[in-house]
Amino acid sequence: EKGGYEHFMLKEIYEQPKAIRDTLTGRISEDGQRVILKELDWTPEQAGSIDRIHIVACGTSWHAGLVGKTVIEKLTRIPVDVEIASEYRYRDPIVTENTLVVVISQSGETLDTLTALRESKQRGLRVLAITNVLGSSVNREADNTIITMAGPEIAVASTKAYTTQVIALYLFACYMAQLRGSVGAPQVPEILTALKGLPELAEKVLQTAPAIEGFARRYADKEDAFFIGRGLDYAVSLEGSLKLKEISYIHAEAYAAGELKHGTLALITEGVPVIALVTQDDLYEKTVSNIVEVKARDAYVLALTWQGDTNIRKTADEVITIPRTLPFLAPVLAVIPLQLLAYYASVARGNDVDKPRNLAKSVTVE
Ligand code: M6R
Repeated sequence: EKGGYEHFMLKEIYEQPKAIRDTLTGRISEDGQRVILKELDWTPEQAGSIDRIHIVACGTSWHAGLVGKTVIEKLTRIPVDVEIASEYRYRDPIVTENTLVVVISQSGETLDTLTALRESKQRGLRVLAITNVLGSSVNREADNTIITMAGPEIAVASTKAYTTQVIALYLFACYMAQLRGSVGAPQVPEILTALKGLPELAEKVLQTAPAIEGFARRYADKEDAFFIGRGLDYAVSLEGSLKLKEISYIHAEAYAAGELKHGTLALITEGVPVIALVTQDDLYEKTVSNIVEVKARDAYVLALTWQGDTNIRKTADEVITIPRTLPFLAPVLAVIPLQLLAYYASVARGNDVDKPRNLAKSVTVE
């Protein structure tokens, strides 16, 4: 059932091109100009009335939500808050009657997320679910659901669920922009074309596996690692860091690159691995200057950047590249090497990759 792969996690990492394709299928018009979300089927008035969005989720799904915030705000200019479900449910969030609550849950059964959904419904709010499991509690109780077509995810560490959640959020952002005629609406056809190209590019990213494996083996005995990035790269850094902690048990932290010098730089010493994400063109110089800072403390830097970036080799020790797409869509590709890094580090340390200690696939208790 592992299809020849040593672990479910590796199989699921390699299933991502298909999972992305399946999540896009039927949701883009034939002429490539419009998003079709039959499961929403909102009128322009319904879409137009939404004045704020609360995205609520846990763990990796929360990280997908962080990407969603940037994407939705950019295309629609609707203010978006992203909240951890276990925090959201115990506070008194400020909502308007036209607040849309978006819950994201691979399993659709995470208790904190489900409770946040129920409380939002009690407040009379519309709830949109993004889940991978048809018939799950979250699916049944939400007003609308976008199903991610990742297929069953068995490994505790979430991989293809994340990439397809992010895809669903791009589709939703484009859908809202078109219906509302927002600032981002004219960009939608270009984004849709780029989205359709992602499965093929994801295949190419998977070819970085041997290089990542080499790095993971050489650094598997380290006890700390840092992930840095700005903007969307920061959101992906958080996911890379969680993945590494979860299955390799290496202590990892993700930092908004510009925040390092406000404390964490004290931990950067000789040989400490720093994984730097540099895919956001408008922030390129800024992140490179942060790489220079950690290099000055003799950190060992693995940079993740676009193919063709020769400049970065002047500062980073090692470079992993992803093929060009819109910087806006980079998270879908950039996360893959980070998943592979966590995977190979876990294997190198002899851990139980698919069933990391102390963790359950679906957290249905508080
Ligand atoms: O099923 P859910 O998406 O609601 O699960 C949320 C988290 O428990 C989950 O993403 C967790 O963080 C993963 N094990 C991370 O790989």
